[in-house]
Amino acid sequence: MKHRITKAIRKQIDRTNEMEHSMPLFLTSSFCFENAEDMRAAFADETDDNIYSRFSNPNVQEFVDRLCVLEGAEAGFATASGMSAVFSSFMALLKQGDHLLSCNAIFGSTHTVITKYLPKFGIEHSYFAADKPEEWESMVRPNTKMIYVESPTNPGLDIIDLEAISALAKKHNIILNVDNCFATPVSQQPINYGADLVVHSATKWLDGQGRVLGGAVVGRKDLIKEIFLFCRSTGPALSPFNAWVLSKSIETLEVRMERHASNALFLAQSLEGHEKINWVKYPFLSSHPQHAIAKKQMRDGGGIVCFELKGGVEAGRKFLDSLQVLSLTANLGDSRSIASHPASTTHAKLTEEERQSVSITPGLIRISVGLEHREDILDDIRKALDAI
Ligand SMILES: Cc1ncc(COP(=O)(O)O)c(C=O)c1O
Repeated sequence: MKHRITKAIRKQIDRTNEMEHSMPLFLTSSFCFENAEDMRAAFADETDDNIYSRFSNPNVQEFVDRLCVLEGAEAGFATASGMSAVFSSFMALLKQGDHLLSCNAIFGSTHTVITKYLPKFGIEHSYFAADKPEEWESMVRPNTKMIYVESPTNPGLDIIDLEAISALAKKHNIILNVDNCFATPVSQQPINYGADLVVHSATKWLDGQGRVLGGAVVGRKDLIKEIFLFCRSTGPALSPFNAWVLSKSIETLEVRMERHASNALFLAQSLEGHEKINWVKYPFLSSHPQHAIAKKQMRDGGGIVCFELKGGVEAGRKFLDSLQVLSLTANLGDSRSIASHPASTTHAKLTEEERQSVSITPGLIRISVGLEHREDILDDIRKALDAI
């Protein structure tokens, strides 16, 4: 097997005596031992035997193994949600007095964790701008332990030059932690550019059908060991059922993402220049400010398209109300297209200035482009634009 996609699809936990083709569901909280000595050895970490599903479970392991193949990672640990993956990667590796340097354009809950909860543990942070790489190095402090980035960012679709940020991290011996949720490993493998850790909200494209919550951290074995030990004691374990769903989803990830991305590119190109829109943002449009970087590090532009309506917040609300096909829901990365208006929903609590600093303008619309026929997606959006 030469290709990582084949390896990921064929990777499977050992068959049981039933000789099943598809992985059965190991819906069990704990695992049995033949005798006291086997049990002692497992607890002493002398064997890899499953003990308890908070620590490990075959379904969870299969999902993690498949994701590791796709990301080119040495090891991984799966969690109950993307946020528990992000939080665990911070808590396991940062301590009082450490400094976290993060891109300012990050998912809202990650921002809350960094600014509200990490300070409780004496962990400092500062934010750098995605589009000002010339300033990044000056923000590194002697106690900077981790650099955290999303690329493309949610929802602004800014692109971070992974090669450049990784060179900086290596130079100063800092852990580089990349949220690869938007690109997925189909489009981008941050570890190839030098990332030490990759975090995922598996809830999004990895599931791809809006069914389950899940998350994962994959990367350097020594760092994953620390994350495993933290999670084993604190308990953000992924449910075996969700892992079973996610593992099967990996088998179709590449083919789904190719269609999401081609639909998204078609939509972005078709909407550019529309009279009701100020601008359209998509990493693979040549008008994207970091288009060259996107082309360098991504195989496709991903499944999210953003545009700004000329009429601001009011136009955004009217646009959502006029959609007939697209869903209004707080998720992304589904087979069904979704529209959202961050200024009146997910980012409504931020000040206007804070929103501006992370590229969230009043009329910004985010489309998670689904697998419907591309003409139907475009038609629904065009009709909603006409209705504004
Ligand atoms: C980029 C990114 N990271 C992390 C998360 C958190 O994931 P979850 O909702 O699975 O906790 C999200 C959720 O939208 C996200 O978009």
